[in-house]
Amino acid sequence: MIANKKIILGVCGGIAAYKAIELLRLLTKAGADVHVIMTRAAQEFVTPLTFQTLSSNPVHTELFNLIAEQEIGHISLADQADLFIVVPATANIIGKIAVGIADDMLTTTIMATKAPVLFAPAMNVNMFSNPIYQENEHKLRRLGYLFVDPIRGSLACGWEGEGKLAAPEAVFEGAHAALTEKNLRGRTILITAGPTREEIDPVRYISNHSSGKMGYALARGACRRGANVLLISGPTALTKPDGVRVVAVTSASEMQSEVMARVSACDVVIKAAAVADYRPLVRNALKIKKKTESTTIELVKNPDILAELGAMEQRPFLVGFAAETDALAENAEKKMREKNLDMIVGNDVSQIDAGFNVDTNRALLFFRDGSSCDCGLMSKDQLAGAILDHVVARLQTR
Ligand code: PMT
Repeated sequence: MIANKKIILGVCGGIAAYKAIELLRLLTKAGADVHVIMTRAAQEFVTPLTFQTLSSNPVHTELFNLIAEQEIGHISLADQADLFIVVPATANIIGKIAVGIADDMLTTTIMATKAPVLFAPAMNVNMFSNPIYQENEHKLRRLGYLFVDPIRGSLACGWEGEGKLAAPEAVFEGAHAALTEKNLRGRTILITAGPTREEIDPVRYISNHSSGKMGYALARGACRRGANVLLISGPTALTKPDGVRVVAVTSASEMQSEVMARVSACDVVIKAAAVADYRPLVRNALKIKKKTESTTIELVKNPDILAELGAMEQRPFLVGFAAETDALAENAEKKMREKNLDMIVGNDVSQIDAGFNVDTNRALLFFRDGSSCDCGLMSKDQLAGAILDHVVARLQTR
């Protein structure tokens, strides 16, 4: 969503101005064409040369810079922008925009643009809670301006509380969302991710190599499209995606009860989790002592959550996954039919660049109407986008 987009990064005068450098790095790494506008106060904290070097574009500091006007003046910046991001957004800049003051390069271009504007506020906790500031922010929100809320923490001025600039990664996610068509707005989507753990005793368990990356990519993608996303996640080392409700589970039966308790409110369920098919018949209360050279553990079947969903009278749009090591197409299509799914994502988990705990995947998509799609090798974020595009298209004809 960000590659090749023209993004105007407005930097204002706050101690957090240096964090705009990290955000610029994330944006340029994602392929955006970033043009930086600095207010006069911002230049007290970071030099224009820093931003010019990282963005490979001239930095705009003065409104009427004749050279800038010839090349890309404030009006053309406003016209060409796909997105504005203001970081850190001070009480001053938000107050100026809220009342229509346009007395420098940044306020003038923001006033002139039709592009979405994303503010990432940062200020002293008392300024943030000041009713005047709050009224200005609420006015801008009502007018459709976007915000990445500040977080609570220790502030440079020595105060503790709300007003600390959100992490650059969170602002980057906000930029992604701002540039994504909201074609899942109003939809509730339940996504499962990660492995389950089936305990043998308090020390040992049976699990698999799922990292959760595929399911978390789907949750991020659905959230960016405006969906109300519930992520039911087995144990992973991943950061919770912004804007997503996460319910943590451990075993297959816990996942089953959380899914079935919520499914009636969902429009779509996407089962990316690697749910254990079996669990030990007996879960030993104490650690099993090593007595013999070999031992046997009897396993019993776990509930098949996806099959249970497929058997529902009024079921949501159902997307399953098939983790195979051979006969991918045949096994995936068979699972789709047997479990009464709307579509299934088949992936060969024996490939080094697909399946478990890698950032890429190769997937074959099969649909209830008999059609299919070979997605080839792509990142899990891209595959999540492809899967969600198909979900959007098929929801419209459902
Ligand atoms: O998490 P990552 O490291 O990113 O790896 C991604 C992935 C390989 C885990 C993912 O792409 C994937 O293939 N997920 C499904 C893994 C799996 O359990 O596939 P399966 O063929 O065994 O199960 C088929 C479907 O039934 C799956 O949608 C699964 O969620 C569901 N299932 C399985 C067993 C069970 N008891 N209940 C279920 O609901």
